[in-house]
Amino acid sequence: MVNVEWWKKSVVYQIYPRSFYDSNSDGIGDLRGIIEKLDYLVYLGVDVLWISPFYASPGVDNGYDISDYRAIAPEFGTMADCEELLEKAHEKGLKIMLDLVVNHTSDKHPWFEESRQSLHNNKRNFYFWREGRDNAPPNNWMSLFGGGAWKQDPKTGQYYLHLFSENQPDLNWDNEEVRQEVYDMMHFWLKKGVDGFRMDMISLISKVPELPDGQLMPNGFGMPFPFVNNGPRLHEFLQEMNREVLSKYDLITVGETPGVKPQDASQYSNPDELNMIFQFDHMLLDRVDPGNAYKKPDFIRLKQALSNWQIELHNKAWNSLYWCNHDQPRSVSRFGNDSSREYRENSAKMLAVCLHMMQGTPFIYQGEELGMTNIRFDNINEVKDVEAIHTYNIAINMGVTPKDAMEVQYHKGRDNARTPMQWENTENAGFSKGTPWIKTNPNHSEINVKVQKDDANSVLNFYRRLIEIRKNYPIVTHGNYELIDPEHKELFIYRRCYGEQILLVICNFTDGQVEWEIPKAFLNMKNEPIIENGVIQRKNGLLIIGAYGSVAYLM
Ligand code: GLC
Ligand code: CA
Repeated sequence: MVNVEWWKKSVVYQIYPRSFYDSNSDGIGDLRGIIEKLDYLVYLGVDVLWISPFYASPGVDNGYDISDYRAIAPEFGTMADCEELLEKAHEKGLKIMLDLVVNHTSDKHPWFEESRQSLHNNKRNFYFWREGRDNAPPNNWMSLFGGGAWKQDPKTGQYYLHLFSENQPDLNWDNEEVRQEVYDMMHFWLKKGVDGFRMDMISLISKVPELPDGQLMPNGFGMPFPFVNNGPRLHEFLQEMNREVLSKYDLITVGETPGVKPQDASQYSNPDELNMIFQFDHMLLDRVDPGNAYKKPDFIRLKQALSNWQIELHNKAWNSLYWCNHDQPRSVSRFGNDSSREYRENSAKMLAVCLHMMQGTPFIYQGEELGMTNIRFDNINEVKDVEAIHTYNIAINMGVTPKDAMEVQYHKGRDNARTPMQWENTENAGFSKGTPWIKTNPNHSEINVKVQKDDANSVLNFYRRLIEIRKNYPIVTHGNYELIDPEHKELFIYRRCYGEQILLVICNFTDGQVEWEIPKAFLNMKNEPIIENGVIQRKNGLLIIGAYGSVAYLM
């Protein structure tokens, strides 16, 4: 067998700590809560935990606005809790990845507070400060959360760049001091025993120095892409980070890289930079720029998007696999069907088969393994996410009715994924004995860990089997990939080959029964699939797959 890096065989589980488990009843999930649930994660079978930020932060963007990279936010616990979490996780064979958020800091970070004091102070060049143009911002860029990307600061009259909220000023990576500070901070965590990083918005850290106007959009702002993604010095920076930090440890690293195409992946995913990156092509299919509308994702394009990454990266770069995370709506509501229990459970399983039989390192987002769904908040006051509130307000100002603006949130809002983890059918889904910081999804009475543990046919037990299969069948890690019947409007079919072995995966993305004529090449496939869900029948050379069914055969 080929000797392969451990992170190529691993399954990662993402924890959004605020919503995972609250150990002290203040309504906010915390580090001790994660410690208490480690045995659940061992039971699930995952290898690595990626924990979203729990550093000191004013919490404007739920921790993605960091004011001290070396301190723990009090609502999440203490440094001692963090050290205990690392130790206990390691004892149980789990590795821990932290979120590295270094495209920007909080505006309450001491670097920024100093930087804004005067034109020539020694932190000024840590950020992007520019003069305005005729009483207007230095360029036309839109913030990725909506609105303009520049904010004028009364102290000096200059503007600073914020690609996200105005409380998240962008760091200037062209300044060597900034880079050294980041590398020092990474060593600080790695010396504590952290096993890797998920790098937030890492494709944005090098900007085209002239900061040119972007292409004008219907909302009157200009698009910052392509002047901020894959920038001129990006790979130089990542290689430097690799030399100075990453190469000194045995780590798992994944970059969050909007605006990156499969052809660019091998520039990131290689021994001199990162292990792998997160692509966005399949996440943008239901997006209508500038982000305040929604359309149904096109199935053929979904297949193409995922397949392009499979094919282009094979033997060149390593892929990551995901359907959802804390920034995306719930996958079962988005790509599956949550309208009935039967459809929900089947489509959750089918989506899992579709993704987990592909090549790459799978990432499971908390609750995905239960088939947790989107939530319908009563109104905008129940929504907590800074981006959602921003896009909602912009829509209202443009004359959209509150009802229609909420409809977009039901499909796209990030808070869909941030409701409390559903542990059991008790108050607040067993997440907290206090009042949760965000509303609990009422469907926790049906969807929760406790009932699913005892049910052999649950989505949870299905995920456990899929994780097992990855561990037992090298073809899942190593095999190549071919999309079959690319134009098929209902089925997602692909084949993986490894040596003499073939793995055939067939997924029905519709609520109807679909018949597929089995091609000659596959007629000798065994009758026993390695995994299946829904109604699967084989007769007279036909494969008949029930609503949201899926099946994987090994030949
Ligand atoms: C990433 C994070 C997201 C955050 C943004 C700004 O996309 O995943 O939650 O809002 O970066 O840090
Ligand atoms: Ca708590």
